[in-house]
Amino acid sequence: MSSETRASMSPRTPAVGTKLPSVGTTIFTVMSALAAEHQAINLGQGFPDFGCDPRLVQAVTDAMTAGHNQYPPMPGVPALRDAVAAKIETLYGHRYDPGTDITVTAGATQGILTAILAVVRPGDEVIVLEPCYDSYVPNIELAGGTVVRVPLTPGSFRPDFDRLAAAITPRTRALIINSPHNPSGTTWSRADMERLDALLAPTEVLLISDEVYEHMVFDGASHESVARYPGLAARSFVVSSFGKTYHVTGWKVGFVAAPAPLMAEFRKVHQFNVFTVNTPVQWALARYMEDPAPYLELSAFYQRKRDLFRAGLASTRLKLLPCEGTYFQCVDISAVSDLSEADFCQWLTREIGVAAIPLSAFYGQGFDQRVVRFCFAKKDETLHAALERLAGL
Ligand SMILES: Cc1ncc(COP(=O)(O)O)c(C=O)c1O
Repeated sequence: MSSETRASMSPRTPAVGTKLPSVGTTIFTVMSALAAEHQAINLGQGFPDFGCDPRLVQAVTDAMTAGHNQYPPMPGVPALRDAVAAKIETLYGHRYDPGTDITVTAGATQGILTAILAVVRPGDEVIVLEPCYDSYVPNIELAGGTVVRVPLTPGSFRPDFDRLAAAITPRTRALIINSPHNPSGTTWSRADMERLDALLAPTEVLLISDEVYEHMVFDGASHESVARYPGLAARSFVVSSFGKTYHVTGWKVGFVAAPAPLMAEFRKVHQFNVFTVNTPVQWALARYMEDPAPYLELSAFYQRKRDLFRAGLASTRLKLLPCEGTYFQCVDISAVSDLSEADFCQWLTREIGVAAIPLSAFYGQGFDQRVVRFCFAKKDETLHAALERLAGL
């Protein structure tokens, strides 16, 4: 090619196609933008509108001032891994070795992706229970895995073990579970966990247990971590999130715990992807975890908000679904509107001034069961203002 021809061609970005054809703008982004446009109260996206404990912010400042500003060890600051191991042992009775079994991650999202990339090979099947958190499916696709969707029982959102058993094949590499469950607010019981243990025992299936809402379980129930069940713990990556527990979703720090052979593979991926996670925040979290009160008191904190929100909705025609954990309240809209879930959420945002999320967004095929999700991780005044607007429904 002559230099004149080259000069006359305009710069051109080569076409790349897409590895994730079904991924577009998420419903959370769409609803948050719509909420902003209409000055609606945003009970859509799941994050608190209140601050975290100032002591935690101070601990980050202290860590920076003390000079904790360079790369930490690849799996995380040892004091934080020690604190996580001690917490899991105290609460769930299982000892993870902080040296070999625990890695600090850039939020639970990275922990889940890294676990999937570490163990899922092209052609492997990975089972998700729908409705499910929106990162699971693209994560499996990026790893070259085949997504196998098993619905939770419509209406109750309880696991359907017959359907789950039928979905397991010799190609099943992993199952992803999530309790307390986003979006439904249900939790798995001891009986559910024992049934899962019995189902997986004769198989080679790995478990990725998304437990980011582990400290938001209501009405005196306890969180049934897979760590409580030796048979499950032996095949599991347990994933959690400091963002959820300490009201700092923007910090994006979480952790993964798994038996050493699984964690060794996890760290191979982590090392060449994230490598390490924000040092001063890890030091601060380690210090803050010395006091168990903030996470032990979180269930009571959110249960009060749940009860406030439910009491306000009780006089409307929105039908409250049970909320056993998380900071999400689902409602059945069918007595209020004939619209689809998605259209109802748009209408609610524009006309009533409150944003919610359609449950269909958590299903691959967009299953519409006339249920929408509100987030009650909000100041009481925000919840009261939203309830005032919703009162006429
Ligand atoms: C079920 C579930 N898993 C994972 C995450 C992501 O957690 P993180 O912000 O720590 O990445 C969320 C956040 O909304 C979630 O609801």
